[in-house]
Amino acid sequence: CFPKPPQIGKSPLSNESSLNIPQRTFGIDYDRNCFVKDGHPFRYISGSIHYSRVPRYYWKDRLLKMKMAGLDAIQTYVPWNYHEPQMGVYDFSGDRDLEYFLQLANEIGLLVILRAGPYICAEWDMGGLPAWLLEKESIVLRSSDSDYLAAVEKWMGVLLPKMKHHLYQNGGPIIMVQVENEYGSYFACDYDYLRSLLKIFRQHLGDEVVLFTTDGASQFHLKCGALQGLYATVDFAPGGNVTAAFLAQRSSEPTGPLVNSEFYTGWLDHWGHRHVVVPSQTIAKTLNEILERGANVNLYMFIGGTNFGYWNGANMPYMSQPTSYDYDAPLSEAGDLTEKYFALREVIGMVSIPSTFLEWFFEISQVGTVVEVLDRLSPSGPVKSTYPLTFVQVKQYFGFVLYRTKLPKNCTEPTQLSSPLNGVHDRAYVSVDGVQQGVLERGKSLMINITGNAGANLDILVENMGRVNFGRYNNDFKGLVSNLTLDQDILVDWEIYPLNIDGAVNHFIHGYPGHPKRSGGNPQSYEAPAFYTGTLSIPGGIPDLPQDTYVKFPDWTKGQIWINGFNLGRYWPARGPQLTLFVPSNILVSSVPNNITVLELEHSPCSTLLCEIEFVDEPIINATTPSTLQADLLFVPQPLSFPL
Ligand SMILES: *[C@@H]1O[C@H](CO)[C@@H](O)[C@H](O)[C@H]1NC(C)=O
Ligand SMILES: *[C@@H]1O[C@H](CO)[C@@H](O)[C@H](O)[C@H]1NC(C)=O
Ligand SMILES: *[C@@H]1O[C@H](CO)[C@@H](O)[C@H](O)[C@H]1NC(C)=O
Ligand SMILES: *[C@@H]1O[C@H](CO)[C@@H](O)[C@H](O)[C@H]1NC(C)=O
Ligand SMILES: *[C@@H]1O[C@H](CO)[C@@H](O)[C@H](O)[C@H]1NC(C)=O
Ligand SMILES: *[C@@H]1O[C@H](CO)[C@@H](O)[C@H](O)[C@H]1NC(C)=O
Repeated sequence: CFPKPPQIGKSPLSNESSLNIPQRTFGIDYDRNCFVKDGHPFRYISGSIHYSRVPRYYWKDRLLKMKMAGLDAIQTYVPWNYHEPQMGVYDFSGDRDLEYFLQLANEIGLLVILRAGPYICAEWDMGGLPAWLLEKESIVLRSSDSDYLAAVEKWMGVLLPKMKHHLYQNGGPIIMVQVENEYGSYFACDYDYLRSLLKIFRQHLGDEVVLFTTDGASQFHLKCGALQGLYATVDFAPGGNVTAAFLAQRSSEPTGPLVNSEFYTGWLDHWGHRHVVVPSQTIAKTLNEILERGANVNLYMFIGGTNFGYWNGANMPYMSQPTSYDYDAPLSEAGDLTEKYFALREVIGMVSIPSTFLEWFFEISQVGTVVEVLDRLSPSGPVKSTYPLTFVQVKQYFGFVLYRTKLPKNCTEPTQLSSPLNGVHDRAYVSVDGVQQGVLERGKSLMINITGNAGANLDILVENMGRVNFGRYNNDFKGLVSNLTLDQDILVDWEIYPLNIDGAVNHFIHGYPGHPKRSGGNPQSYEAPAFYTGTLSIPGGIPDLPQDTYVKFPDWTKGQIWINGFNLGRYWPARGPQLTLFVPSNILVSSVPNNITVLELEHSPCSTLLCEIEFVDEPIINATTPSTLQADLLFVPQPLSFPL
């Protein structure tokens, strides 16, 4: 249904209209097949922005650009694990200040469609579910499992009352709230679970707000995803059959507004696969068809942003997602207006503000290997256990854990160290007495040869590469989740060191006395995981500096980088497709040197080439490497049909 303009002569502020037209209401008109806002038929064109993927500093800028693209509304997810890092510990401050984000949207005149979870998918670690849920190992996530539901109820009891003030009828921007996400794609198909969520949402938000679900546009997906009392919407990609997609929605909702809650402007990437690009013309054409029907649409994503820190998710068979969540969206990761932005919406009076920065190389140097600074990274020392424990069992959810045992025998000849049950989640950097031996990788490399003497320290630094966010493998335990064997013998008597690297980067690594570089092992391929530091000075007094920039890693292999303690995310140029990481200007200063810390896990250029990282003014997220070309044979992007 096409919105009709308010009748001339009846200003919403006049006394007459306030008698006749209900003020600030939002609902569904099943007779006219549309939404109805303040008594008038209403259709929205919305765009997705995830506040958790954009620094707070840039929220206003991005929202203004969305407003100027002509959008009526924005859509955002609430990642539960971002706000409840430990059970019962809540964080709504700084970059997590959701209420401030909602207030900005309201001030700018954008309505909000809130996707409150508890599960969100979103290419976000574990689909937004907190990893501490896995402390009950047998938990059935996204079901009526009593422990799961109790945790959900408690969390929603914190989140939803905060959201209530921001509902449209209470003067805020939120017109609709989504319950769960694509539940029809999940194996559990537990209607009682959806009923419990419906009850919890109604309890906290009242009866008036429109609650809805989103599922793939087929009766198959809607079967377990839709529930009486939750308005069923669908999602589908450009280029498909719009009639068929909306017919699927009609199988659940015979009348009411047509809604595509995720109309894909691009697509997600995986490490080792070619960067996905979706041409603007394809999107513009299908968008036109959707709008011609009077349907409502949300462009997913309008701006993708960045998986800062450790927040990326993964898909199965295990493939983790890169740091950039650019998504080939109309606004780039850095908020620049792209050709797609202009193609999707005529923009009036918009001034493009490109990210520019002088192109500079910065020298950095090694300060120590992970093993050398172990006491600083793991001040409370190791947990001892006969067999390996998972991350959750040692109460660490993200980053890295070091597993140490002694070699039980002389391995003078190359001896097989293996993970017969594919239990390295997700990558392990193996050394013997500080000499690097190789890398084990989930689903890819289950065996390496090692050498060393009986009694030597066998150190296995395990990296959590992001938890599976989609499908039945959500219970994604990290660390050594099954035994390792040396020859055929199970290795025992582990010392397991939880590592607080992010804390250490802030507090000690700068100014830590450097160690001379150590070589050994297999110099062509692997070096011990080590920290490198350097500083980046930005001249003061130049009005336009600092600005956004991108950092590039010439001849580096794989690791993590922090600037002034802010964790920018993972880099992995050796696998691609992403070669540069976005550096938002708000983390840079010009008054004192900016501190850079790099944790390189495999091989740095420092011993043979220049020990430098580079700042550039253009992102490269579409590189092809030998590994991406090979991986392309295995992976064809297909919305909504990842293998379970
Ligand atoms: C689109 O789907 C509709 C309904 O299933 C069908 O009638 C129509 O032929 C399809 N159009 C194309 C181009 O495949
Ligand atoms: C390992 O080899 C050394 C000599 O290289 C020998 O002294 C030692 O007994 C051996 N240890 C074991 C456990 O076999
Ligand atoms: C490990 O060593 C054995 C014996 O030297 C050799 O046959 C095998 O190819 C090696 N495996 C790997 C993965 O290097
Ligand atoms: C390791 O093997 C032991 C003995 O077979 C078994 O009891 C234990 O559960 C295994 N541990 C893991 C993490 O698989
Ligand atoms: C960088 O580290 C030094 C030494 O710890 C500190 O004095 C300085 O303030 C840090 N710079 C920034 C921008 O935080
Ligand atoms: C990557 O994108 C840039 C800018 O759109 C383009 O010029 C370049 O050809 C692309 N490279 C590859 C390998 O696709």
